[in-house]
Amino acid sequence: MDLKVEFETHFGIAHTRWATHGVPNAVNSHPQRSDKGNEFVVIHNGIITNYKDLRKFLESKGYEFESETDTETIAKLIKYVFDNRETEDITFSTLVERVIQQLEGAFALVFKSIHYPGEAVATRRGSPLLIGVRSKYKLSTEQIPVLYRTRNIENVKNICKTRMKRLDSSTCLHAVGDKAVEFFFASDASAIIEHTNRVVFLEDDDIAAVADGKLSIHRVKRSASDDPSRAIQTLQMELQQIMKGNFSAFMQKEIFEQPESVFNTMRGRVNFETNTVLLGGLKDHLKEIRRCRRLIVIGCGTSYHAAVATRQVLEELTELPVMVELASDFLDRNTPVFRDDVCFFISQSGETADTLLALRYCKDRRALTVGVTNTVGSSISRETDCGVHINAGPEIGVASTKAYTSQFISLVMFGLMMSEDRISLQNRRREIIHGLRSLPELIKEVLSLDEKIHDLALELYTQRSLLVMGRGYNYATCLEGALKIKEITYMHSEGILAGELKHGPLALIDKQMPVIMVIMKDPCFAKCQNALQQVTARQGRPIILCSKDDTESSKFAYKTIELPHTVDCLQGILSVIPLQLLSFHLAVLRGYDVDFPRNLAKSVTVE
Ligand code: F6R
Repeated sequence: MDLKVEFETHFGIAHTRWATHGVPNAVNSHPQRSDKGNEFVVIHNGIITNYKDLRKFLESKGYEFESETDTETIAKLIKYVFDNRETEDITFSTLVERVIQQLEGAFALVFKSIHYPGEAVATRRGSPLLIGVRSKYKLSTEQIPVLYRTRNIENVKNICKTRMKRLDSSTCLHAVGDKAVEFFFASDASAIIEHTNRVVFLEDDDIAAVADGKLSIHRVKRSASDDPSRAIQTLQMELQQIMKGNFSAFMQKEIFEQPESVFNTMRGRVNFETNTVLLGGLKDHLKEIRRCRRLIVIGCGTSYHAAVATRQVLEELTELPVMVELASDFLDRNTPVFRDDVCFFISQSGETADTLLALRYCKDRRALTVGVTNTVGSSISRETDCGVHINAGPEIGVASTKAYTSQFISLVMFGLMMSEDRISLQNRRREIIHGLRSLPELIKEVLSLDEKIHDLALELYTQRSLLVMGRGYNYATCLEGALKIKEITYMHSEGILAGELKHGPLALIDKQMPVIMVIMKDPCFAKCQNALQQVTARQGRPIILCSKDDTESSKFAYKTIELPHTVDCLQGILSVIPLQLLSFHLAVLRGYDVDFPRNLAKSVTVE
């Protein structure tokens, strides 16, 4: 439907909701309101964990709820605070400050109210929130001073006892000469980059108010070292970087960008002449990392798979024990962490709630924390002690593709940097660095198989299930390929460790079940041949991803996809791409929206 709406207002709020409480429908959508007269409205990204208690409290005060959302309690709570105010001139941001004192969980919020026309107030805790700033005119400042309050407010009953003083103009951002500035509140820079690349990242519990075209920030002071200002940063992101170009979906564009994105990950860091690697964000901590007891690499979904993919080469190059962990499970287990551990947090968005919580857990235990993210200014990049920016460029498709290959390379580069002075590893390091150099060209060669993979998708797209099997360096390829398939095609898919075949999964094999086997010329080749025999002996018809020069596997294959050969520990970068392409074609053939799969969000900012 082509719907054109004229707005009279100069300030609007909206939110694309990822349902945590209540089904996706009109009444549960945002903004949520305080009452039928819309006295206060709020949009919310995150999750309020104590909403049941708050709802009970507010219901006992006579407030009637319309939706099943946690967010509605926030709208009702602010009205409660307003209705119980002790003075008429209470400010909008004071109300918000009092509301968030009562909230537990994670949130980024933007409020509007008919009582404060022309004003909007935003705040965050645990969920990302930034403010875009656009003006044709010179701004009054490049650093927004934070107005600190030291008083604390205890509970809902006495929340009206303190009063916030009105902000004076010296604490505000405005354009010089009273000319207009436009402000954009968003969870992610890609939402506003077409309007401005100048942004302010808010910290937890900052309260940002826009009133009469001026932005001010205030917060309750926690410690003497609190930063006294928030800088306006200029993002390097270009609009065309986040446009689809000639591709039908962002995911497809991002798959095809991989020759450039992996190059950008290595640019200025790998010196192919001297066989050295320098990661600027880690160099000051290298000594400490070399002395550590073990490395713990933590992430979710695809980012976790990047950790699985590089575990072996990290163990080899760092000569340290390496644990790889799913962030949620790591927290569920209260995993012991010590101050001589080094913990890596892998996250494309840098905002994944589980990974962020794991980071805070490790920080509390004094481990050194390292962020590996694709998003400058994200919570994970800010809260870690040091880090690597993977430089893959903005990733818009919900299914992560180019971030995976860049995370993979970033971790390999870390291993290479750690092993620089190990005499016994010099030949191996040279081999890997040589492999890195030719990756962009080899990726192009893999991408040229697209048509063949499309034909394969035509054969498979009506199937219900698809198994992906491999081992060693390519086990992660299977996990990642299966994740891509399930998340955008909604087919059942499982990544199976070939070594586990006879311990259960073999029972699934027959001539109907489609099986993809990843068999590369690496130390696991002979063992993969055994798995292949076991599959064909049960009339399985394997589709084999294999090396170009592999004449052995192809004899038993129903179909083969032949890939260029690279050094064993980097082969997973090439072998995952056919599976990314296959999942894309399967999803298109099945008629699904590739970039926005049902039930999923790009940044999972809730636990
Ligand atoms: C899968 C996918 C997710 C993310 C996961 C972690 O294609 O995109 O599995 O990898 O939600 O997200 P980040 O990397 O942003 O922490």
